[in-house]
Amino acid sequence: MSASSASNGVRQQVFVLVGGTGDLAMRMLWPSLAMLDQDGFLSDDLRIISVAREDCGTEACVDRIGAAVMSRVGEWVEPAALKRFRKRIVHVALDAAHDNWGVKLKDELGDVDKLDIVYFLSVSPSLFKPICEHIEKAGLNKAPNRVVIEKPIGRDLATSKIINDSVAHAFDEARTFRIDHYLGKETVQNLIALRFGNMVFEPLWNAQSIDHIQITIAETVGVADRLGYYDEYGAIRDMLQNHLLQLLCLLAMEPPSSLASDALRDEKVKVLRSLKPITAANVVNTTARGQYGPGFADGHPIAGYEAEKGSPSNTETFVAIKAEIANWRWAGTPIYMRTGKCLPSRATEIVIQFKPLPHSIFGAEAHANRLLIRLQPDEDISLTLMNKAPGLTAEGMHLQPLDLSLSLIKAFDGNDDGKPPRRRIAYERLILDALNGNNAQFVRRDEVEAAWTWVDGIIQAWTDTHMKPQMYPAGTFGPVSAFRLIERDEGRVWND
Ligand code: BG6
Repeated sequence: MSASSASNGVRQQVFVLVGGTGDLAMRMLWPSLAMLDQDGFLSDDLRIISVAREDCGTEACVDRIGAAVMSRVGEWVEPAALKRFRKRIVHVALDAAHDNWGVKLKDELGDVDKLDIVYFLSVSPSLFKPICEHIEKAGLNKAPNRVVIEKPIGRDLATSKIINDSVAHAFDEARTFRIDHYLGKETVQNLIALRFGNMVFEPLWNAQSIDHIQITIAETVGVADRLGYYDEYGAIRDMLQNHLLQLLCLLAMEPPSSLASDALRDEKVKVLRSLKPITAANVVNTTARGQYGPGFADGHPIAGYEAEKGSPSNTETFVAIKAEIANWRWAGTPIYMRTGKCLPSRATEIVIQFKPLPHSIFGAEAHANRLLIRLQPDEDISLTLMNKAPGLTAEGMHLQPLDLSLSLIKAFDGNDDGKPPRRRIAYERLILDALNGNNAQFVRRDEVEAAWTWVDGIIQAWTDTHMKPQMYPAGTFGPVSAFRLIERDEGRVWND
């Protein structure tokens, strides 16, 4: 749609960043835009309008943006490119509570029929509705214009529908780009390449060959500066409903017929809809909830979540779930997912644990193969294979596990200067796709709703069974119940 109109030069592109002086914008969005510009991905005449309540004026705003870019990606910035980038930006002070929001924006935009506008709403979801109404009332929502929004898209299915409906009034589904920033990560996209760009995995990618899967997103940070938001959401809504389930979809989906956006998203939504509901009858054995207490994490002493909050809280900062996908490919292969704050190390990794040999001629020395896909902080893929231990022994042959290992950083270190390649910010990919009108890596409404349906069931089961978070000392891998969750199934342990 818009990509063609933009690239054939008929319409001038405008990127309207609403919430332009906010935290996410400064840490991620402006640096991403600056790098896209420097690398030649933005059309020459693209304009960027920063919108915020704050009336700081364009000059001061652009200075702050320049500083934010330098602090995030300074070592890669080419001064001339940054100078050019700054010239693209205009700041407009607008308050979403005021009726003339759209009118004032329209004045700034000029002849809207000649424009191809991307609105990036980097604001609280409570403002999506008034802002979309302003855009619509001023006639600024017509195709090819589109909108980018980000989580939290609701606290549950019902509230997500309210948000989606209010956006849908102004922008149809094809022009609504819901970000899950994990989908913009290079390593997450590589899951698609790994699964569908190689012949070797697919015949084994099923319950016949795979014993279980683990997906971990471990963070060392706590939530101190985001308590207001976090206390309302907790780990299940903040991380599992979106990032973890998106990873699960990419791992478990059927091969899509193409990379076209709906081909991919049709397959993902089928996975979400096939998740076995977790209910009061099985929630105690299939989930673990934790909350960090006093301890030491991220190099600092931690007072504990409730101490940071200053009052008791029932919010979990850790969640682990044993999920099952009820379809032919996966029936009988559980997927253990976990995520938490104040854990001992930062790591996002996936373990594909293959089944043991049907008959071992080597006795117990033959371990089952394991594929480890590490997404963060280092990008590694390693496949544990059994080898003959070198050397001679009187008893004959001994086996030894060895890793066939691919370090993506080393493999793609194309710089002559010895510097490791720059890791792109996930938002670079997503902003570029939004500008080009490609929504394959964005989350469709039915995906969001299917994910909430499953997660709502778990939260309801927690309520029904009065399942409270169990305390874990900051700097440890979650509560005891998280270990029981996996160890209850014989022979399985977390890959720590
Ligand atoms: C966000 C969550 O979506 O993802 C945060 O709201 C979390 O709580 C963050 O820290 C993790 O993202 P990343 O890219 O650092 O793994």
